[in-house]
Amino acid sequence: MSDSIIAQDVTKSFARDGERVEVLKGVSLTIAAGELAAIVGPSGVGKSTLLHLLGGLERPTSGAIRYGDTDLAVLSDLALARFRNRRVGFVFQFHHLLPEFSALENVMMPLLIRRCSTTEAQAQSTALLGRAGCAVAAPPRRVVGRRAAAGGHRPGADRGARGVAGGRADGKPGQQDGG
Ligand SMILES: Nc1ncnc2c1ncn2[C@@H]1O[C@H](COP(=O)(O)OP(=O)(O)O)[C@@H](O)[C@H]1O
Ligand SMILES: [Mg+2]
Repeated sequence: MSDSIIAQDVTKSFARDGERVEVLKGVSLTIAAGELAAIVGPSGVGKSTLLHLLGGLERPTSGAIRYGDTDLAVLSDLALARFRNRRVGFVFQFHHLLPEFSALENVMMPLLIRRCSTTEAQAQSTALLGRAGCAVAAPPRRVVGRRAAAGGHRPGADRGARGVAGGRADGKPGQQDGG
């Protein structure tokens, strides 16, 4: 679980008004396990685009992104969603909590999506909230698994952390990563 993140000659371009806009023109970087990295630059330079690629939310136009030996390009969309659910955490600028769920249930959601039992998800999430100084006094008011699945989070075809944290119907985070 502690692989370097490696980007190799990554490009990303978008079509806009019938033209191709090259946003990333060959980005290479390595972020070692345990390293804290900040991507800084003026607005519009491509920080969010790079983060979306590094987080497996989008795919590069060319180039490779690897987590250790795992090349994200070879993963199917479903496998990539599973990878995100298990390996990637997103902290967005806005909280994007699901309002119909309690704080604990919101934290439990990625675990339930990966088919963790409610009891286990509750235990892990309670511990995590405690570590973050947000102790939860009471158990959740209800069991969320079935309702979450009914709300579009198919457990067998999970959309990873983004479906929960991103808040958009397509699961994309938009400009919510801090700009
Ligand atoms: N989905 C998209 N379609 C078209 N252009 C995009 C898309 N996403 C980003 N861009 C363009 O790419 C450039 C970089 O955007 P972005 O990565 O959001 O920059 P930053 O986060 O550094 O402010 C901008 O010109 C933006 O308009
Ligand atoms: Mg941005």
